[in-house]
Amino acid sequence: MKRRVAILISGRGSNMAALIEAARTPDFSAEIVVVISNRADAGGLERAAASGIPTVVIESKPFGKDRAGFEAVLQQALDDNDVELICLGGFMRLFTAEFVQRWYGRMLNIHPSLLPSFPGLDPHGQALRAGVKLSGATVHFVIPETDAGPIVMQGAVTVADDDTPETLAARVIKIEHRIYPEALRLLASGRLKLEGNRCRTLGSDASDSTLVAPTTA
Ligand code: GAR
Repeated sequence: MKRRVAILISGRGSNMAALIEAARTPDFSAEIVVVISNRADAGGLERAAASGIPTVVIESKPFGKDRAGFEAVLQQALDDNDVELICLGGFMRLFTAEFVQRWYGRMLNIHPSLLPSFPGLDPHGQALRAGVKLSGATVHFVIPETDAGPIVMQGAVTVADDDTPETLAARVIKIEHRIYPEALRLLASGRLKLEGNRCRTLGSDASDSTLVAPTTA
């Protein structure tokens, strides 16, 4: 049985599109049953609809600081669709600790940095200002703290001296589209084991590949 997944978005939904695409594969362990946006103008909504995925808009703005009120409506939409797992794809709204607790171990997020470095806004600007030579993307389980939680998968890219936040973002997003479907596949097929703040992957190979930057002539 495929696990039933909701993707929550606020914007263009390129990670959403990567997840939808991956889930089309017959042997993929999850199916995307609904895309939910907290903004009616999210570009991803049209993309989802074009892929034949039902969409729901729950505008969060009218709820203001009433997070629990927004989440009650969200939870109803999740229940209506028998959702088992949630993937956040650029969902820019904080949850209450209660909602996060309810979905603990069943809700993933992706963030464009090698967490725990550079959580929050402008991760690529933060990375460049810190002068790191490697950056990347992280898929993690959601906990009440923003952009934190047990790490499922990371992918790294090298940072060039002349990178801008835009050029770095363009490289990192390719990694995001690669690791998010893979992380969801692992979760949906029961291969992730949470041990405190660590997430172990059953049947994973120890890899000895290295990425060194900069390389010099
Ligand atoms: C992605 O880069 C995602 O990692 C980031 O928002 C972007 C959404 O793009 N998420 C965060 O920064 C979470 N803190 P998308 O709508 O094209 O997937």
